[in-house]
This record gives sequence, C-alpha cells and structure tokens, in this order.
Amino acid sequence: MSDRNPYIVGKFYDVPTVHGLIYGVRMDWPVIGPMHEDAEIINFPWQHYHIDWRFVPLRICRSVAVKWHSYGLAGVYAIVLHARPEVHPNGLPAPVMKRMKCKMEFPVFPEHVVRWLHELREKFAGCKLKPGMVCPHRGVPLASLPSVDGIVTCPAHGLKWNVKTGEMVL
Ligand code: FES
Repeated sequence: MSDRNPYIVGKFYDVPTVHGLIYGVRMDWPVIGPMHEDAEIINFPWQHYHIDWRFVPLRICRSVAVKWHSYGLAGVYAIVLHARPEVHPNGLPAPVMKRMKCKMEFPVFPEHVVRWLHELREKFAGCKLKPGMVCPHRGVPLASLPSVDGIVTCPAHGLKWNVKTGEMVL
C-alpha cells in the first residue's frame, strides 16, 4: 500500500489529543483512532480512546505502566482513556489537534498475554486494511507506524497486517 508515512522519533507531528484523567495524570493525552467500545470479544463495554504512547513523556509512560508491572513498559497497552462516569462525569471532549514531539516507538505489543487475540484474529481472517492504511477492526490509522519484515501491528488490539497486500497476518 502506497500511503505509508512512518513517524520518526524526535520529529514533530500534528496529533489528536483528548483532555482527560488516567491514574491521577490529567493532561491532553495524544490518542490514536476514534473513540469506541469493545464489548464484543474484548469484554470492555466502555467508550474509550487508545493512547498514542509515542508522544507521551517516558516518565509518564513508566508511572502509569507500573500498575501493570509484570508487563514492563508494554503494560501501557492495558491503559486507555475511558469515559466511565466515575472518572469523567461529563464525558470525554472531542479530540483537538496539537503539535507534539514523537518521543519513542510504540512498545512491542504484548500478544502473549492477550487472551482474546486469537478470537479477534479468527474473526478478521481474510479481511484487508481499509484505504489509508486504516485497521478495519475499530478504524485505527496505521500509516504512521513502522513495519517489521513488512508487517505492521495495530497498537489498539494487536491485529497484524501485511503492508504490501493489506491482508491480515495470523
Ligand atoms: S483497531 Fe483493533 S486491532 Fe486495530
């Protein structure tokens, strides 16, 4: 697929951000993809955004990931900005674009600890990326992510895609 533009660590990009609170840290969180719920398969019924950890200072990544200590920095994948009323009684605002520095690549997705990934892969077997390198699961844009051996991993739920053919990789 031709529309790839992997971000480079150290450069600045316009990133959607959502103001909210995660584990005591209130800030404009960089997000990737639209707000969605994951009641089916993943059993997470609350509306939420996935964080674009590439733009979060490492000290904050570490301080929130420590809640999931056994996963190391990959524990950030268990952390989302969600709209539960006890955390965000007025809901979450719409994203606002902000110029931010890309501080690191996403940590490696911890697929060995994700129990529902096999079921998700079975459901999407035979699917292809949508135009613009968009993941067909929840619409997360993947064009800014690097590929490893021609495969890009969606940072939301871990589906893998062949960047040349757009096909899902088991
Ligand atoms: S949005 Fe769920 S795997 Fe990509």
